Amino acid sequence: MGFSIEDFYYFKVELSDILKKFDNLPLDIYYYNTDNECYCLLAKKDKPVSFVIKYKGEKFIKKEDYSRYAEITYPENIKKKKIFEEMVEDKKILNDEKINAMYNYGDYTVEDSLLNPEDDKKIQAAKNFVNTSLKLIKRDLAIVDRLKHLEAYDLYTLRHSVNTFILASSFMNVLSMVDNSIDDNIINDISNAVIFKDIGMLYIPRYILSKTNMLSDEEMEAIKSHPVKGYELFANKNIFSIKALHVIKFHHEKYNGTGYPEGLNKTDIPFFARITTICDTYDSLVSKKTYRNKMTCIDTINFMKKQMCGYFDPKLLDQFIVLLGPKNFIIKNLKEIEKKHLNN
Ligand SMILES: [Fe+2]
Repeated sequence: MGFSIEDFYYFKVELSDILKKFDNLPLDIYYYNTDNECYCLLAKKDKPVSFVIKYKGEKFIKKEDYSRYAEITYPENIKKKKIFEEMVEDKKILNDEKINAMYNYGDYTVEDSLLNPEDDKKIQAAKNFVNTSLKLIKRDLAIVDRLKHLEAYDLYTLRHSVNTFILASSFMNVLSMVDNSIDDNIINDISNAVIFKDIGMLYIPRYILSKTNMLSDEEMEAIKSHPVKGYELFANKNIFSIKALHVIKFHHEKYNGTGYPEGLNKTDIPFFARITTICDTYDSLVSKKTYRNKMTCIDTINFMKKQMCGYFDPKLLDQFIVLLGPKNFIIKNLKEIEKKHLNN
């Protein structure tokens, strides 16, 4: 298929905090050369750290250096985990500060697990992050307000996974107020799957993911293989329930049957996959991508209602819009939406 095998041997890393502790580089650092579509050595191990800190672009390490990287970052991660877990329980700390700590720990943990999906301990660490975050989300749905004002980000899959997780788990919490079948166990289970929904992207070559011009049919097919690749990765392990696996496999299906991988229609698409599709699309649209400017919350909702008409479960989309509105109207509005759809 014309893919470069080297794509599978380099990992993107966030080194800025860690490098501040060293005089000399602890690892060889690479950058991605978009002109030649290849990875090039930026600086060798034991050279002064200052050179790499000044370089603003994405940095990579070789796969064989990953255990060294994990060794360096591990104490940092434990500190972030402890801070976040203590903050969630502390009533005196403002929610905004808790949310910042959540992103801080989440970025770190989720990145680690997304890069090492075959390491059960890393997956468990991400699950612990989900459990603690759910406590925060359950206590105060105002966390969703933060996502209405998302800043531009450049951590492609990582930040998007955390944002979609926050949206989906908040959405499920709200739906559980009018639907008794959605309990805490299900919310926990599905929230974990949402974090890993794009794990299959790890197996798509970087040159395709970083391409800014039109993708060829072959490249588009490669991208479209990510739900099945992610599903296959976890299908034979005892990590996710079948409902959760279906979220990973079917999160790009569309209500009108034009999605992938199977072109499922309407309620043939599993319920929690329909929820995830809405949250996933919303976060992609409000976040800045290289090919267009980011959209406001209102523009995004209008775009999803009009230009993307037919893509989403209409009842769930209405309920999602309520979630993004003023919090005190949630229950009343959800009940009215239920009635409207029952009468149709
Ligand atoms: Fe996806």
